[in-house]
Amino acid sequence: MSEPVSSLTVVRDVGSLRRRIKAWRSANRSIALVPTMGALHAGHLALVERAKALADEVVVSIFVNPTQFGPDEDLSAYPRREADDWNLLAAADVGLLFMPDASVMYPDQFQTEVRVTQVSQGLCGDHRPGHFDGVATVVAKLLLQSLPDYAVFGEKDFQQLVVIQRLVADLDIPVDIVGLPTVRETDGLALSSRNAYLSESERAIAPALYREISAVALDIANGVDVAARCTDAAAALLKAGFDAVEYIEAREAATLAPLTASGGPARVLAAVALGKARLIDNVSVP
Ligand code: PAF
Repeated sequence: MSEPVSSLTVVRDVGSLRRRIKAWRSANRSIALVPTMGALHAGHLALVERAKALADEVVVSIFVNPTQFGPDEDLSAYPRREADDWNLLAAADVGLLFMPDASVMYPDQFQTEVRVTQVSQGLCGDHRPGHFDGVATVVAKLLLQSLPDYAVFGEKDFQQLVVIQRLVADLDIPVDIVGLPTVRETDGLALSSRNAYLSESERAIAPALYREISAVALDIANGVDVAARCTDAAAALLKAGFDAVEYIEAREAATLAPLTASGGPARVLAAVALGKARLIDNVSVP
């Protein structure tokens, strides 16, 4: 594939990444990292804009990380749109794109795994065994490879965000993790690279997920019984046309522990199956 013409520098190995970052550091430039798996959409570009507001220089990484996909998951089918991604990043005035391949990230003899034990359990962790170990390992590597001042992640993957916050706190990685609210279509559907798997009729059903979790969050704020309300919501999602409901739950936002009477910030989180897509979403309890 021919490389699009732009001022964007693309590096594929850790040495080149570090040389560019060292040059920025020598010039006293602050750095923000936006880790992605490519197939970029407006949600990713919002992360890039936030990164640009936070720091002098922005590094975006694109790496479809095999270790966070289970054996029955969509690794080979995961959308890859390299040329489109480059053009979007060049238009967004990003300075550096890190695009390693699997042999750079996981060379022969690679045998280290990072596991964040508690917050990786439950919710998506129960339905995607090993997923958050893969995420924690690759994010630890990306942070140590680039040593940014900030790393920006979307709140759509809320459990992932909490796992990463725990990871950097536990390993004393000197970076500020910044979470950004989910970007949505006008009908409420959270932007996701996986929305590309939805057929036209499934796309019409999909926004019901956001509507339902928003209604649950409001009812919880008004004091309804949480477990009963989540059971009703699961039934309503099936009735709306989703093929399966993996979970719909309310949790403490900071720790993902089950809700207590403490009244701290809470979150309603859900995952559903719809055709070939697995959709996740979450909202805060007002
Ligand atoms: O959210 C994602 O796109 C991925 O899980 C991440 C954080 C880039 C790690 O591969």
